Amino acid sequence: MINDTFGDDGMKKGKFIVFEGLDGSGKGTQTALLEKHIKQSGGKVYLTAEPTIFSTGGMIRDALGGFTDRDAYELSAMFLTDRIFHNINKKSGIRKYLDAGIDVICDRYYYSSFAYQGIDADLDWVMDMNLNCREIAKPDLCIFLDVDTELCDKRIAENRFEREIYENKDAQSRIRRRFFEVFDKLRDSENICIIDASRSVEEISDDIIKIYEKIRNTNDCVDIK
Ligand code: TYD
Repeated sequence: MINDTFGDDGMKKGKFIVFEGLDGSGKGTQTALLEKHIKQSGGKVYLTAEPTIFSTGGMIRDALGGFTDRDAYELSAMFLTDRIFHNINKKSGIRKYLDAGIDVICDRYYYSSFAYQGIDADLDWVMDMNLNCREIAKPDLCIFLDVDTELCDKRIAENRFEREIYENKDAQSRIRRRFFEVFDKLRDSENICIIDASRSVEEISDDIIKIYEKIRNTNDCVDIK
């Protein structure tokens, strides 16, 4: 994994923070609030998302929208390709920002591949190819915004004109269960923080900022369970 605290030149790297959650869990709102907090407190931050805006991300969007049929193995490989490019591309890759000491906030990352593609494809295979790919940076922190599937479904119904392939109640409850199974498997190796996201936007954001401040200047793991 490439994400050590210091780069080869001895410079302090940025923190890599990933937000995860079901569709409609409020990631967009909370990533923006953390970005604002980092900027206001004098830090530098780059906000990004997966699937990306690059050509690989476009192919994925076609599949998610139901325009092209892809099976879970194809989708896993497409997300992997998209993620590698997201990490290493020279212009705006995650690695470039982290090496320059800039924090990176990413809306979804490999945990989504485990939970979404992992409901149909072989979970160990999906995990293995992401976790053992040296080009894919390991996050310093994963914040999981936990909301029950009923509330997510209500939010999806209110905000979406068309539903994507995973945006139905049955898939969302299987995905939520998968997220928890995966977090259990990764308990000792990844820094995952599960947040009750059914509370007010301010309460959730306050918690996230506290957790971020704990990891900001240290490499210690936060006690998150
Ligand atoms: P989402 O993050 O909700 O963004 P938007 O608001 O643009 O819909 O949607 C991305 C979808 O992609 C979501 O349903 C989860 C899915 N996804 C995967 O299935 N695997 C992955 O590895 C990633 C990153 C996302």
